[in-house]
Amino acid sequence: MIRALDKYERIILGSTIVGLLLGIGAIALSVFEAGIHLPTAEGRINPAVVRQTAPFDQPGVREVSPGVYEAVIIAQAWQWDPSVIEVPAGSEVQFIITSVDVLHGFQVWGTRTNAMVIPGQITKVSQRFPNAGEFGIVCHEYCGIGHHLMYGEVVVTP
Ligand code: CUA
Repeated sequence: MIRALDKYERIILGSTIVGLLLGIGAIALSVFEAGIHLPTAEGRINPAVVRQTAPFDQPGVREVSPGVYEAVIIAQAWQWDPSVIEVPAGSEVQFIITSVDVLHGFQVWGTRTNAMVIPGQITKVSQRFPNAGEFGIVCHEYCGIGHHLMYGEVVVTP
C-alpha cells in the first residue's frame, strides 16, 4: 500500500524538481539566448595526408596582417611541430592545429588558450599576447607513453 507523502518528503521532492527545472532552464538560456557552446570543428582534414594539405604542408608562424600571426601546428605523438612559436609583444596569434594520430590537448600556460586537438578536425583558437614573456605549451590529454614530453613554448619578444 502506498502511504501519503510526509511533509518533509514533499519539500525535498518539490525542491529537487524545482532545482532540476532551474538547471535545465539555465542551460537552455545559455545555449539558445546567449549562444554559449563548446568550440566546434573549424574544418575537416584527412589525418593521413595532413602534411600534404594546406596550411599544414607549411607548419610554422607567419604574419597574416599587421600584428596578427597565424601559427600552423601539427600535433604528433609526442611533439608539436613546430614546438616554438615566436611573436612580438602585442600580437594576436591564431593557432591552427590538427593531429596526425591520436587525441591531444593544446594548452598555453598563463592564457585562456586550451583546446582539444582531434585527428580529422582542424582546431582554431586565437590568443592575444600583450606582454613579452615565455608561455609554455603542453599537451593536456594523455596520448601515450611520451605524453609528458609533448611541450613547446610561445616566446613573446619585447
Ligand atoms: Cu599529446 Cu598528450
